[in-house]
Amino acid sequence: MKIYCAWSYAVLWILLLSRAGNVDGIRPGNLKFGRAPLLERFAWKELDFAYPNERSRQLAIANGEYVPENSLPVGIEIWKNKLFVTVPRWRDGIPATLNYISLDTNQTGSPKLTPYPNWRQNRAGVCGSGLTTVYRIHADACDRLWVLDTGTIGIGETTVQACPYTLNVFDLTTDKILRQYRLRPQDINQNTFIANIAVDLGKGGCDDAFAYVSDELGYGLVVYSWQRNTSWRVTHSYFMPDPLAGDYNIGGLNFQWGEEGIFGMSLSPISENGYRTLFFHPLSSYREFAVSTRILRDEQLSRNSYHEFQVLASRGPLSHCTASVMDASGLQFFNLIDQNAVGCWNSALPYSPANHAIVARHDRAMIFPADIKVNRGLLWIMTDRMPIFLLSTLNYTDVNFRILTTSVQEAIAGTICDNMPWGFGGNQIW
Ligand SMILES: *[C@@H]1O[C@H](CO)[C@@H](O)[C@H](O)[C@H]1NC(C)=O
Ligand SMILES: *[C@@H]1O[C@H](CO)[C@@H](O)[C@H](O)[C@H]1NC(C)=O
Ligand SMILES: *[C@@H]1O[C@H](CO)[C@@H](O)[C@H](O)[C@H]1NC(C)=O
Repeated sequence: MKIYCAWSYAVLWILLLSRAGNVDGIRPGNLKFGRAPLLERFAWKELDFAYPNERSRQLAIANGEYVPENSLPVGIEIWKNKLFVTVPRWRDGIPATLNYISLDTNQTGSPKLTPYPNWRQNRAGVCGSGLTTVYRIHADACDRLWVLDTGTIGIGETTVQACPYTLNVFDLTTDKILRQYRLRPQDINQNTFIANIAVDLGKGGCDDAFAYVSDELGYGLVVYSWQRNTSWRVTHSYFMPDPLAGDYNIGGLNFQWGEEGIFGMSLSPISENGYRTLFFHPLSSYREFAVSTRILRDEQLSRNSYHEFQVLASRGPLSHCTASVMDASGLQFFNLIDQNAVGCWNSALPYSPANHAIVARHDRAMIFPADIKVNRGLLWIMTDRMPIFLLSTLNYTDVNFRILTTSVQEAIAGTICDNMPWGFGGNQIW
């Protein structure tokens, strides 16, 4: 039993490092590890939803609308007093795909998820008025929540395309949909699977907005222009997986995700030339790549700019990465799913392993850090044991899903990421 073997190593590791000497070593507000304290904000054995009352909840369980062990959180976002949590409809019984938890009460524990903006707009397969499956989402500085609904039910071979891929942009101040845009047939192909979004606000303010969504299995990047309300598809061989990087060992499981191409994206601050840099990486790869948004924002340029895409150094072995994020000072965080960890890179320095550091790591509490975000000086990490959910079975008497926070400043203190005066370098080559 590989899983238990790996976990016993994890437990040993915690025992060695934990001053508490407690096997759990995991308590709200007191995770022992790494450089900075990691606060366990929320933790769940299984997800639960805020039904109007217990009777409706029991009814949903009885008729199969809610199957507690089928919900896996995959994405988070923070906006003011809301913490959003997305749950894809990979299996039956997911009552809502876009949800939030109120942060007002400063609660910890296992809060129930409240559908956003409401239950009605979370009905599966009701194309145009309901969200079917949502992965990673983004709240921008203009109080808009960017949500790409893949329209899919199921995972892998079982996937049914119930509705078209649709970008929904919500006004977070009114909870109303501001914009709904169906991807054009030319934007996708028969392999398309899009689970990530980056939002680029330019110098021109809220209307000067572009969304970039990464087609992980169809190997493309779809660009949406808010101003023009249109989209186009960019292709590049750097979006493909590295055939030598498709083998994974996570949570005691060995598996192959050899086909996973462009996935995580992060945007630099605006540099002197007026544009951001989009950093991106295929999931099955150890490399980071970069391209200026000057190229992506221009439909014609983006078609014919092979050499504008830059290759950065490899992160080295055990550095598969799903999510990444860059803060306003040019500090990038990226999850390291093979290492149950999150790393950092200060983009004032060249991109190389020597300039990377680990800021959070926990071999039990951080098995598969699925999403990370930075908000008001805090790094948020959501971990979900996804490979065990997909390939084996989660142990529902154990905690499976966690949302953790740590202070960015404390997390990078004393690491290479904190080594230089902060500030984004501009047009340099990484
Ligand atoms: C919220 O909880 C944290 C950790 O227990 C505590 O440090 C903080 O002061 C609390 N904030 C409020 C507003 O109660
Ligand atoms: C954007 O385009 C879509 C169709 O492609 C259309 O349904 C929608 O009304 C447009 N929105 C705006 C604000 O122009
Ligand atoms: C499931 O998790 C619980 C709580 O951590 C643990 O006591 C139990 O041994 C686990 N079960 C298995 C089969 O590993």
